[in-house]
Amino acid sequence: MERNMEAPFVNKELYDKSKDLKKIFPETQADVYFESELSRRAQSKTLEFIRKDNYIRDSLLMLFEHDQKTFVHSVEMGNIAEYLIANMGEKISLAEANDLLSSCLLHDYGKLAIEKELLNKTNITLAEKEELKKHVVYSFESVRLFDEAVAKIIVGHHEHQKDSYPRKQDENINYDSREADGRTKILSRLLSMIDTYEAMLADRPNNPPKDIKYVVSELEKQFNLPNDQEMIFLLAEYYYAKNKNQQIDAIFN
Ligand SMILES: [Fe+2]
Ligand SMILES: [Fe+2]
Repeated sequence: MERNMEAPFVNKELYDKSKDLKKIFPETQADVYFESELSRRAQSKTLEFIRKDNYIRDSLLMLFEHDQKTFVHSVEMGNIAEYLIANMGEKISLAEANDLLSSCLLHDYGKLAIEKELLNKTNITLAEKEELKKHVVYSFESVRLFDEAVAKIIVGHHEHQKDSYPRKQDENINYDSREADGRTKILSRLLSMIDTYEAMLADRPNNPPKDIKYVVSELEKQFNLPNDQEMIFLLAEYYYAKNKNQQIDAIFN
């Protein structure tokens, strides 16, 4: 797949703003801070994957400058994908694994085009909710310049969730012509499951992490196709593996 290595771009005004940010913080300083956060947050294979790919690295750097919460969420989803891939064996090919990892890291990239204040606002109005939903189309439009297959996985990341958007909500769209192929659908569903899981467990202001038992029961309600159960089991396993590591980290900190 031919890749467009132009700088990621979704919204000119915000893109220019982020370039100004780099002028305020000398390149090296911003980079050092970003690199240290990246190596703290990303597990080995995810870190290697990000560092190898300038497009993904630069996209994450821009997200980091715009909204750290989205950056942390995206990197953690990469870590979760890394764990699932390692445990799926031959059920996932190398190309599919790379697309899943890329889509986890870039799925919310379009939030760069949403004002930071709105991203962090609680008690949003209906109109603001609609504005937030646009991030999916922004992600799709920008990531497709880089990789069409990954963009197609990304555009479906909220379509498997309770509040399905954007395509199922828009009556003007002809679904048949935009129906994803089998591989895209499977990867999109996996992305959606990882997104739902991470959102429930993330520790955010005004939204403390949910209990793992509650998270599993919610996932079982929302994802109840035959193959989903095994993925939910792996997600629960990841939770316990991660928390054990956190206990070890606490000893050294
Ligand atoms: Fe999203
Ligand atoms: Fe997300």
